[in-house]
Amino acid sequence: MALGTHSAAAAFANSGPAAGVESDREFAFSDADFRGLAQVAYEQAGIALSDSKRNLVYSRLSRRLRALGLSTFREYREFLAENMAERESFINAISTNLTKFFRESHHFDHLRSEVVAKFAKANAASLGRMRVWSAGCSSGEEPYTIAVVIKKEIRDLERHDIRILATDIDTEVIGRGARGEYPGNSVDDIPRPYQEYFTPTGTGDTLAVDRQARALVAFKRLNLMEQWPFKGVFDAIFCRNVMIYFDGPTKAKLIQRYTEKLKPGGFLYIGHSESLNGSHPGLSLVGRTIYRREA
Ligand SMILES: C[S@@+](CC[C@H](N)C(=O)[O-])C[C@H]1O[C@@H](n2cnc3c(N)ncnc32)[C@H](O)[C@@H]1O
Repeated sequence: MALGTHSAAAAFANSGPAAGVESDREFAFSDADFRGLAQVAYEQAGIALSDSKRNLVYSRLSRRLRALGLSTFREYREFLAENMAERESFINAISTNLTKFFRESHHFDHLRSEVVAKFAKANAASLGRMRVWSAGCSSGEEPYTIAVVIKKEIRDLERHDIRILATDIDTEVIGRGARGEYPGNSVDDIPRPYQEYFTPTGTGDTLAVDRQARALVAFKRLNLMEQWPFKGVFDAIFCRNVMIYFDGPTKAKLIQRYTEKLKPGGFLYIGHSESLNGSHPGLSLVGRTIYRREA
């Protein structure tokens, strides 16, 4: 993903010695350091870090500097430029992973009635196929919410071919999602009819997601800015509270790619603060932050 005419390396080279260093911090952190790191975030992940994210970048990356035994952000930028493996830790550190079960629950009411219940009815006597994608799934609460909604609605689950693809750029959250265990107080976010699918593990105050619901979900690392390695289309795509970190052109391109990946009649669910501006051929708004791919 290009940003203007400068590459991250060029931004680094042009940065000047220690312009704008704030000296009362544990690590020297100049304007040029922030700009250079913001450029890497944009080029690698499409994440647009505005000036207001300066303190956040400092505090999240300070942990990396400590772990690596570095003493300035300039050293960290040099290290990042030379070590491809550090890019993963960099992205993991700067991505915002806030999520919870049944977040923006009206989306799951819609999914249940317009996708899952209709699927169950249409396939009462046949073998059905359903694909749902949670794009930017963080630690798994979103795809597991989808899984338990499906499990509750479709009693003969094993007869059908149902898969939920859960992807994120951040390898750390993907690992947590794949484990399928959550703190006991997560139950507060789960409506009572679904609490039966979250049971104490017996170790600490931890809940495990129902085995059959878990088996519906496949976690994979995927950077949305890169090529998508799957061929099929989806009945529903969730990309919620992810595009808020992207700029307008990145978001518009992503929406176009999602539209191509939806079945005619399939649904795109986006976050409450992400409503789509401009025209999006092939999509119609059918509910609060819910779009339908035209047939
Ligand atoms: C705030 S969480 C949203 C989680 C969930 N969708 C929800 O609404 O609760 C945003 C997620 O987007 C992921 N993300 C950011 N940039 C990404 C990219 N370029 N490709 C894939 N995932 C990305 C982050 O790692 C993070 O886990």
